[in-house]
Amino acid sequence: MNVRPVHISDLNALMQLEEECFPTEAFPRRTMRYLIQKSRSVFLVLENQGQLLGSVCLLTPKRHRSARIYSISVAPRQQGKRLGQQLMDQMLSIARERGYSGIHLEVDEENDAAIRLYLRNGFQPIGHIRGYYNNGHNALKMHRDLLSV
Ligand SMILES: CC(C)(COP(=O)(O)OP(=O)(O)OC[C@H]1O[C@@H](n2cnc3c(N)ncnc32)[C@H](O)[C@@H]1OP(=O)(O)O)[C@@H](O)C(=O)NCCC(=O)NCCS
Repeated sequence: MNVRPVHISDLNALMQLEEECFPTEAFPRRTMRYLIQKSRSVFLVLENQGQLLGSVCLLTPKRHRSARIYSISVAPRQQGKRLGQQLMDQMLSIARERGYSGIHLEVDEENDAAIRLYLRNGFQPIGHIRGYYNNGHNALKMHRDLLSV
């Protein structure tokens, strides 16, 4: 099992992962390509024996002290095995190295698996956005302080 930076050659496998994990919210291919090649994001993939099993994309804006988890996913058949934690660990350590004071994100209020992963990693609920997702679900906004922990 290996976490490494994404490469443009991962695009096809990433699109398959995206469509499996986010049936109603998948990024279009052009957005995925942009995210892979965009210099101000940290995009990592988890692979095992050449198989892409997960990914995380952290937006790292220049003028803000808080980074944003834009996407995290683990292939459906591999979920529940703590693989998301491996992506989270690497991503948190990179965010700290880059000097961010915190990380924020939005998650579907009904996405229990993701919310449990975030709570376990010190993220706290800070608000809601009504009807944020294409399926009409509300978003829960969460934040993790990186300075105090
Ligand atoms: C959210 C996600 C990245 C978590 O990764 P993971 O490797 O499955 O994470 P974990 O194994 O640590 O599981 C997280 C929690 O969800 C639970 N869980 C995971 N998959 C589950 C499943 N299929 N059914 C029920 N519970 C599940 C785990 O028991 C765990 O809860 P716990 O901390 O109380 O033990 C992954 O489930 C996923 O890719 N989901 C689809 C994409 C998505 O929703 N991404 C988040 C967008 S904000």
